[in-house]
Amino acid sequence: MKKIAVLTSGGDAPGMNACVRSVVRSALYLDLEVYGVRYGYDGMIKGDIHKMKSYSVSNIIQRGGTILKSARSKDFMTKEGRKKAFEQLKYYGIEGLVTIGGDGTFTGANIFYQEHGIPVIGIPGTIDNDLYGSDFTIGFDTAVNTALDAIDKIRDTANSHDRVFFIEVMGRHSGYIAIQCGIGGGAELIMVPETSTTIEDVINKLKKDRDSQKTSSIVVVAEGDEQGNAHEIAEKVKVHLPEMDMRVSTLGHIQRGGEPTARDRILSSRLGLAAVEGLLNGQKNVMAGIVDNKIVYTNLKVAISKSKPIQDELLRLTEILSM
Ligand code: F6P
Repeated sequence: MKKIAVLTSGGDAPGMNACVRSVVRSALYLDLEVYGVRYGYDGMIKGDIHKMKSYSVSNIIQRGGTILKSARSKDFMTKEGRKKAFEQLKYYGIEGLVTIGGDGTFTGANIFYQEHGIPVIGIPGTIDNDLYGSDFTIGFDTAVNTALDAIDKIRDTANSHDRVFFIEVMGRHSGYIAIQCGIGGGAELIMVPETSTTIEDVINKLKKDRDSQKTSSIVVVAEGDEQGNAHEIAEKVKVHLPEMDMRVSTLGHIQRGGEPTARDRILSSRLGLAAVEGLLNGQKNVMAGIVDNKIVYTNLKVAISKSKPIQDELLRLTEILSM
């Protein structure tokens, strides 16, 4: 293998730049030519492919977002789109591909590998932390810290006004962000898609808080919770507790931006090298991840289909400490 390409795809995540830097510099160190594909799979189809040098990735380790840009490509979901993308790679002589993204990115990578046989290695880059085969995904730690900072601030004002706050954090199918920033922020209740919390549970908890002299409460809601989003949940609860002053805050995309934490930069740097070395060692159609502090390669299909449950210990901790 002499030439490889790297792209970022799907929702961006802080640390993607550090990872692109690592892929590019690791490839150059190992005597490979390396190309950056802009706009994810869309750019691959259109041939938005550029040779990268060491200086192309200077001064980006600390920057949020992705210099390669990102997209959720509709065309790559079609056979013709994937064929065009493969022809572009052939044109440039690219023999291996590194895709940084989440489940949508890996679904595309897996089909692409099945159809065209080009070795692909995925790197888990999503704030959701919902991929099997890596304890943590790139961007998760930064997103948790961003959400935590917001929760701390909201707690100040919630406390001054004796209010209940419903704070919605990201995580379409996963409560990882909610659990971590909820524990870190001392939330009274955390609602995640992995466990079932009824509206009655919420009402009872808020009543209990008031009975135990708490004057304000924070409920952290993962956006994918089965009871709905934070607004919907607050409305349902308010009907039963009209005397409580309630507010809703949806943190949204601030969780996707900002400078990556040290943890995310190091994770990104390790996984970039692991992906390039994996390609050179004959790995294909796998995701490079870190489990128990060791590099592991997991089949892409397994990484996206197998669930990574939230540890029972964390759920128990939440219940005990929010008394
Ligand atoms: O997958 C990452 C994520 O940030 C989810 O948590 C969220 O539901 C989704 O992307 C939002 O994506 P977008 O606004 O880019 O469509």
